[in-house]
Amino acid sequence: MTVQLDEAATLRQAMVAALRKEGLITSERVAAAMNAVPRHAFAPDEPLEKVYRTDTTLVPKLDADGRQTSVVSASHIQAAELEQAGVWPGMSVLEIGSGGYNAALIAEVVGESGSVTTVDIDPDIVERARTGLARAGYGQVNVVLADAEHGVPENAPYDRIIVTVGAWDIPPAWLDQLTPGGRIVVPLRFSAVTRMIAFDRYVDVPELRASSYRLGSFVPMQGDGAAHESLIAITPDVGLRVDQNSALIFDVSALRKALNASPVESWSGTPFDMPDELELFLLTSGAELPMLHASHEAVDQEVVNRTVRNGTPALVRGGTIAYRIKRENPETESGYETGVVAHGPEAEQVGSELLAMIRTWAGSYYRRNAATITYHPGTADPASPAGWHTTKRHGVLAVAWS
Ligand SMILES: C[S@@+](CC[C@H](N)C(=O)[O-])C[C@H]1O[C@@H](n2cnc3c(N)ncnc32)[C@H](O)[C@@H]1O
Repeated sequence: MTVQLDEAATLRQAMVAALRKEGLITSERVAAAMNAVPRHAFAPDEPLEKVYRTDTTLVPKLDADGRQTSVVSASHIQAAELEQAGVWPGMSVLEIGSGGYNAALIAEVVGESGSVTTVDIDPDIVERARTGLARAGYGQVNVVLADAEHGVPENAPYDRIIVTVGAWDIPPAWLDQLTPGGRIVVPLRFSAVTRMIAFDRYVDVPELRASSYRLGSFVPMQGDGAAHESLIAITPDVGLRVDQNSALIFDVSALRKALNASPVESWSGTPFDMPDELELFLLTSGAELPMLHASHEAVDQEVVNRTVRNGTPALVRGGTIAYRIKRENPETESGYETGVVAHGPEAEQVGSELLAMIRTWAGSYYRRNAATITYHPGTADPASPAGWHTTKRHGVLAVAWS
């Protein structure tokens, strides 16, 4: 047992060092918490090496269709969200979506003068989180069984709300239970992509303003806040994913034909770098774009380019589809160059249109956190935010580029 404990401590230090190196841990508070909490106490049946990797989720729970409904998140996600949240000793924090480990990390940071509430909709997860927290010595964390759509009013208000499940919107209860001047970090899904966004609430300012955002992958919200996206199949292996509030309609048979036509490639001369930032720009700077997804088989058989593997925004005009690709180019800053591939009768024009958008991003917004993201609670005047915006159930999300 002693040997195993020593091994766990060594692996934990290595995990923290790796997260620091990747720039995901940036504060001593988060580093100390991640060095202190025994992650293996929350996944006792998983191999230690796996538990302390930075990129692995643990103890997945699957639904009847084999889809994940719960995991202990990968430590790189937990570190990033904790840093985004800016948790300090003495704070009161609500974690939405439980597992135990992340709540223990928050408890380490807030210390004895703070408090942590974690809520999950699944009784099995609540039970497991309670057991893990007791085993690891964090019995002071309040573990609540409820649909978090309604928050946890009995322990409110919270200085920080950290959502650890993919949300489509920010329900009113979360803001009602957040202190003025508080911060909510939420993996918010829009345009069929999830981004972890840290929103700050200011006294006397109606909208929430993002202080940071980054890509992140989460299991979807269940219960009253669940979202219902569509995946429109072009072939059995290639599809277009659109937001649940999308009005896009596609000529599927023309697009199927287009994928069989010879592709037209064009190159931008700009570096391929920070694809997540470029992707956000493409999705929020003009007309709505769907996300192109493909199976591994379709990528391996080169039906679509390999850059589609994790999904990419596509510009679709009638029976023509264009999306960004990359190639090695030692003359660019990143060693790679961004280009466009287009399929279909108007491949030249649609490809040029997308290329122009890529050049605009590279010329004006080629940096991290270039977008200004705001969330406007209430739906009374959805036209008010300037620039790109999307209307959710309880408010309007806006993304501006300036
Ligand atoms: C990624 S897991 C949470 C991981 C956990 N925070 C950790 O770090 O170990 C997401 C959790 O959200 C829960 N969940 C989904 N919808 C929910 C809802 N409406 N209310 C509360 N919990 C929900 C799931 O049951 C799942 O356990």
